[in-house]
Amino acid sequence: LSHICVLQKTDITASSLAALACSKVKRVWLVGRRGPLQVAFTIKELREMINLPGARPVLDPADFTGLGDAVKDAPRPRKRLTELMIKTALQKPREETAAADREWGLRFQRSPQEVLPTADGTRARGVRVALTRLQGSGDSAQAVPTGEVEELECGLVLSSIGYRSLPLDPAVPFDPQHGVIPNSSGRVLGAPGLYCSGWVKRGPTGVIITTMNDSFDTAQAVLEDLQAGVLDVAASREGFGAVGSILRSRGVRPVSFSDWEKIDAVEVARGKAAGKPREKIVDPKEMLQLIGH
Ligand SMILES: Cc1cc2nc3c(=O)[nH]c(=O)nc-3n(C[C@H](O)[C@H](O)[C@H](O)COP(=O)(O)OP(=O)(O)OC[C@H]3O[C@@H](n4cnc5c(N)ncnc54)[C@H](O)[C@@H]3O)c2cc1C
Ligand SMILES: NC(=O)c1ccc[n+]([C@@H]2O[C@H](COP(=O)([O-])OP(=O)(O)OC[C@H]3O[C@@H](n4cnc5c(N)ncnc54)[C@H](OP(=O)(O)O)[C@@H]3O)[C@@H](O)[C@H]2O)c1
Repeated sequence: LSHICVLQKTDITASSLAALACSKVKRVWLVGRRGPLQVAFTIKELREMINLPGARPVLDPADFTGLGDAVKDAPRPRKRLTELMIKTALQKPREETAAADREWGLRFQRSPQEVLPTADGTRARGVRVALTRLQGSGDSAQAVPTGEVEELECGLVLSSIGYRSLPLDPAVPFDPQHGVIPNSSGRVLGAPGLYCSGWVKRGPTGVIITTMNDSFDTAQAVLEDLQAGVLDVAASREGFGAVGSILRSRGVRPVSFSDWEKIDAVEVARGKAAGKPREKIVDPKEMLQLIGH
């Protein structure tokens, strides 16, 4: 929904920008199977959507009836997020927002059943959704189909239903229920000397900075274990050298950090010429050429 003039100053790729320049999208529905008290987005993400220039939020006040009271004792982030949704649903749009030619809205208690094709079968014309009611309350409430269905018209369907990490190797412990490697500060439980980080450590939430902070926490654990003499650092152990020889035996040429720095420098230089932070190279062959592979 962002206008091209806003997007072209970001690090969006040239090909994505060209595709979006032809976009006819005027309205986006975010559809969730549960209610406003269970939304997965953050208040920062909601604010960004509310403040999208040229786009109007469409929230049905009826979806929020009585929620102000229900959320009074909820944890602060959930409370503030719900209050912002309520405020947006109830307030009269500013003049420039009311005149916006694009809009986005939230549709609750609807679970997707089927993507409906156009008569010639070449495109989507909508989604059949099952209406749901909530069983239980708060984060653990479950969406149960009421038996009613509804067709939601649309020309494009994007699914966004989260992620689940997969087990790496039978030798590495894995909790299939939560999709994580059981760990304490990154130390894999039951496997001394093995560490994990990122979504497989914490579950699939958060942005790159969250993942970075996670890695610092794990690295700290490794350093502590080194200092405490818990890790086997005997000279007989090959360490990274072992990985290098496996890769060589398979004919793989790894990309080093300094290789990446060369690609980064070219992307940043190309971006500068185009008035954006970087022009991302999207063809792996071109990246490898740049580093002489
Ligand atoms: C659609 C989407 C958009 C996002 N946009 C943003 C954004 O704009 N800004 C932002 O800050 N965050 C964004 N995020 C969040 C960000 O991508 C994650 O926080 C971050 O990538 C998690 O890092 P990770 O290292 O845990 O996992 P990943 O980045 O998923 O890395 C895991 C790696 O392990 C590899 N792997 C898996 N199994 C094996 C195996 N058996 N052997 C070898 N390798 C394996 C995978 O190929 C992958 O490269 C986005 C997430 C999604 C899903
Ligand atoms: N630009 C960015 O910075 C960016 C972009 C994308 C993602 N991310 C980050 O990546 C993380 C993951 O994001 P995500 O959006 O992929 O996942 P998410 O935040 O975990 O949200 C997944 C949503 O899908 C719903 N869902 C799951 N299974 C479903 C099903 N079978 N039927 C109907 N609904 C279903 C969930 O509803 P229930 O709660 O009912 O299960 C939930 O609302 C987030 O922390 C996000 O911040 C960041």
